[in-house]
Amino acid sequence: MTTPENAAPACTPAPATRGLPAGRMPELRVMPAPSDANVYGDVFGGWIMAQVDIAGSLPATRRANGRVATIAVNSFVFKNPVFVGDLLSFYAEITKVGNTSITVYVEVYAERNRLQANTVKVTEATLTYVATGDDRKPRKVPALDELIFPQER
Ligand SMILES: CC(C)(COP(=O)(O)OP(=O)(O)OC[C@H]1O[C@@H](n2cnc3c(N)ncnc32)[C@H](O)[C@@H]1OP(=O)(O)O)[C@@H](O)C(=O)NCCC(=O)NCCS
Repeated sequence: MTTPENAAPACTPAPATRGLPAGRMPELRVMPAPSDANVYGDVFGGWIMAQVDIAGSLPATRRANGRVATIAVNSFVFKNPVFVGDLLSFYAEITKVGNTSITVYVEVYAERNRLQANTVKVTEATLTYVATGDDRKPRKVPALDELIFPQER
């Protein structure tokens, strides 16, 4: 039986964000391995682009209620290098919904020397996805009230 004496604490303190955007959940968290680095020991831009594409596709897929294809990388900025062993957090936010397209802004933060709480924004990008049908042709983005995940805009 739960009594006031043995009840769990009413709330557990939220973990410190340590320089990560407060109150937001990353779509993806990944740690690059040595095989993801170039000859200089920094992580390949192409590897980062692939992870950004995956992260951006997640809210787009929920908003589209189904498959999407990347039609464009509208902008991509590598603001700081990424190193093997950085813990990367990918935050993605839908910025525009068109007839068949969904535009997503992705920000990437690296936690370096994690015990010293050193967090750096490394990348930001905007990508456009198109909702597609089983025939791989563009499909209208469904109305909000048709969504399985109504939290998506
Ligand atoms: C995605 C695909 C099905 C779209 O078909 P399409 O006939 O080229 O598309 P449309 O010209 O009808 O445009 C579809 C939407 O994309 C938008 N779009 C087209 N080119 C764009 C560009 N360069 N930047 C941003 N948006 C673009 C259009 O404005 C339209 O949006 P809207 O319906 O919201 O107004 C087709 O281009 C394709 O299969 N591309 C390859 C996808 C791929 O392999 N991606 C990599 C792996 S996922």
